[in-house]
Amino acid sequence: MSKIKLYGGGVIPVEMHRVSTVHTIRLIPIEDRLKAMDEAGNCSYNLKAEDVFIDMLTDSGFNAMSDEQAGAFHVADFSYAGGAGYYRMADKIREILGKEYFVPVHQGRACENMLARAFVKPGDLIPTNFHFCTFATQVQLAGGAVVEMLQDKGLVTGGDDGFKGDYDLDQLERFLSETPKERVPFVRIEAGTNLIGGQPISMDNINAVAEIAHRHGVRTLLDMSLAMDNIHFIKVRDEKRKDMTVREITRELADAADIIYFSGRKLGFARGGGICMNDRADFLNVRGYVSTFEGFPSFGGMSSAELEVMRVGFDDTMNEDVISQGPDYIEYMVEEFKKRGVPVVTPAGGLGCHLDADRFCAHLGKKEFRAAALAAAIYLISGVRGMERGLSSEKPEDSICPFELVRLAVPRRVYTLSHIMYVIDRVTWLYEHREMIGAMKWEDESKEEHSFIDFIRPVGDWREKLAAEYKKAGLE
Ligand code: F0G
Repeated sequence: MSKIKLYGGGVIPVEMHRVSTVHTIRLIPIEDRLKAMDEAGNCSYNLKAEDVFIDMLTDSGFNAMSDEQAGAFHVADFSYAGGAGYYRMADKIREILGKEYFVPVHQGRACENMLARAFVKPGDLIPTNFHFCTFATQVQLAGGAVVEMLQDKGLVTGGDDGFKGDYDLDQLERFLSETPKERVPFVRIEAGTNLIGGQPISMDNINAVAEIAHRHGVRTLLDMSLAMDNIHFIKVRDEKRKDMTVREITRELADAADIIYFSGRKLGFARGGGICMNDRADFLNVRGYVSTFEGFPSFGGMSSAELEVMRVGFDDTMNEDVISQGPDYIEYMVEEFKKRGVPVVTPAGGLGCHLDADRFCAHLGKKEFRAAALAAAIYLISGVRGMERGLSSEKPEDSICPFELVRLAVPRRVYTLSHIMYVIDRVTWLYEHREMIGAMKWEDESKEEHSFIDFIRPVGDWREKLAAEYKKAGLE
């Protein structure tokens, strides 16, 4: 995406594509949004997509396909075993990531399941810069645990450090010196990090992590689900690498890893995933589990058509104009919110613009579901669906994440700047009326364990009052 300097002042991100296939969207009236929220138990995940005006829940599987991807969808070979699409994708992995062996797996968390089954035993410990919830759960189910090693700079929502996803290298060195290596199947690197606001990890830090892990005889495992963003940030924020091509940066990143996995719903703009490596024994180990749990290893639970789409998506990803689209929109949102005083995670990261619900809803108590209440309020007044990233989606006892965030994800090639401007405008209105946002509580408070899609209820009638105030403003 190109940033265009306007004659009248300011800079805007301009889409480096034009659109030929569209989906109609609609904004249902605020009364119906209130009803939809009730039916969804005030949890944005549970909303029907047709009731959502602008869907910023996630970019996962929701990035728009290019014309070449759409074309590739129709040349799929649906053979049960050994379909041509598998070999074409394996070649693409060799070309771009430099890994000899590729196993398709139907999505990112299924890759994590396969890796946990293949490598993690009870009592194992897995260092990571920051956990992702599905990875941590798969490791726990296998009897192991993740050990967070993020530098302190990543645990604050403010600041301007360009690589807040960096590992604490001293902590990693100490940990590997003190822990028997049989208990550490791999050192995991998440590039970029999801739960701390899409913040990237620097290439120098990744290379240092790999050097430490290898010196201690431990494999590195790289989660490349959010690598598109991370590669873009290395290109624009790392002085030493600004003249490298996207392909060169991608290869340097991949070379640091012994095993790579990814959600193809993000990396590759498709609906799939995969695991790749150079070690044949590791490949055979993983492949055995894939054929038991996912499908024959030449499709791994994916549709062959999606394998073709993912392969072309990998080529699209090597284009800076394509990968910069998400981060440039996000930066635009972050800068506009900052001007208006709306609290956001800084600097702008990948994946989405993250509102800081702790500061946005500082009038609510820590246990009053600030982020869930904010996500519900945003949908109510604007029809925009964001994702709660806080108390109701993460068990606090499992997490060191101190934040309450609402993520407004920016799927690539899906929305235009006018959609983004609408979101900024409505969230600003809400910020100026933030005292009207009330508390939330679990619908079933007797339950000890809650899931992120459990119903949550407002305390009092603040939603109705907020809706009335919004209508009074004449914005509906
Ligand atoms: N790893 C990371 C860093 C992710 O962000 C995700 C998914 C996964 C693994 C799991 O992949 O969804 O294909 O099973 N993140 C999605 C999101 C859910 O919207 O943040 P998956």
